[in-house]
Amino acid sequence: MSKEVKQGRVLVVGSINTDLVARSPHLPRPGETISGHEFSQVAGGKGGNQAVAAARIGARVAMVGCVGKDANGAQRVKDLETEGIDCAGIDVDPAQPTGVAMVTVSDDGQNTIVVVAGSNGQLTPDSVARHEAAIKACDVVVCQLETPWDSVYATLSLARRLGKITVLNPAPATGPLPAEWLPLVDYLVPNEVEAAILAGLPVESESGARRAATELQRGGARNVIVTLGSQGAYLLLEGGEGKHFPAPQVQAVDTTAAGDTFIGVFAAQIAARQPLEGAISLAHRAASISVTRAGAQPSIPTRAEVESAA
Ligand code: RIB
Repeated sequence: MSKEVKQGRVLVVGSINTDLVARSPHLPRPGETISGHEFSQVAGGKGGNQAVAAARIGARVAMVGCVGKDANGAQRVKDLETEGIDCAGIDVDPAQPTGVAMVTVSDDGQNTIVVVAGSNGQLTPDSVARHEAAIKACDVVVCQLETPWDSVYATLSLARRLGKITVLNPAPATGPLPAEWLPLVDYLVPNEVEAAILAGLPVESESGARRAATELQRGGARNVIVTLGSQGAYLLLEGGEGKHFPAPQVQAVDTTAAGDTFIGVFAAQIAARQPLEGAISLAHRAASISVTRAGAQPSIPTRAEVESAA
């Protein structure tokens, strides 16, 4: 890593999955059987992907999560350790299998994902409390919603009590968040679908993103960044100032983990006390590289790759 890159400390509390990926000409309709033309098994999980994105851009990263006592779990931890991620906070559950995601990617780069949580469901508020030292040691805590909600709430509460910067990626979103959550969030980062579900408003454009972000800020989130895929992202700062960021235009091969790449890189830059607008631009550049490559963690670029593509 070049000398001038400032390193912050990011803790990701979240999911770890093995992605079973089929590539097919199009996404199957309900009841349809289609022939795929490629199968792969890769490291995934929103938590794991975000941790890898933060590590590859140069942050010091630790992870709290839970894998099963099986070959997938051992391999996932080994993969994360290879990235230099501190895995001391990853528990091993003897009864549940490691989380799995069934991913279908069509030739035009769209996907569908079904996640079976397995051991991710064993990440409890007690496990979070046991790993308090990891929260104390970091600058920024990142959570998603692929682990039990009470453990996400426990993490945000503890992080807030310890004065840490909190980033919540509310994915997958199933409905509005409990009212007490948003005041614990410094950066809420939904995509357009999640923002619409959380705010109960349509988000099809920049103005829709602004309306949804305003609603979520009214609920207590300090800053809101709505990611809009190829349309970029909309940032609503505390105080009400808003800005749209365009995304680099690329030919998408597979959008899996693009949002995770954005969030991991963004968290790393915030942890390193980098300016917000630069953090969003770098996150966009990394995410736009990830969509040109197949798979979740295999698609996430390093800092050198992001810088050389600039
Ligand atoms: O965000 C992409 C991720 O969602 C995949 O890696 C899959 O594991 C699911 O968690």
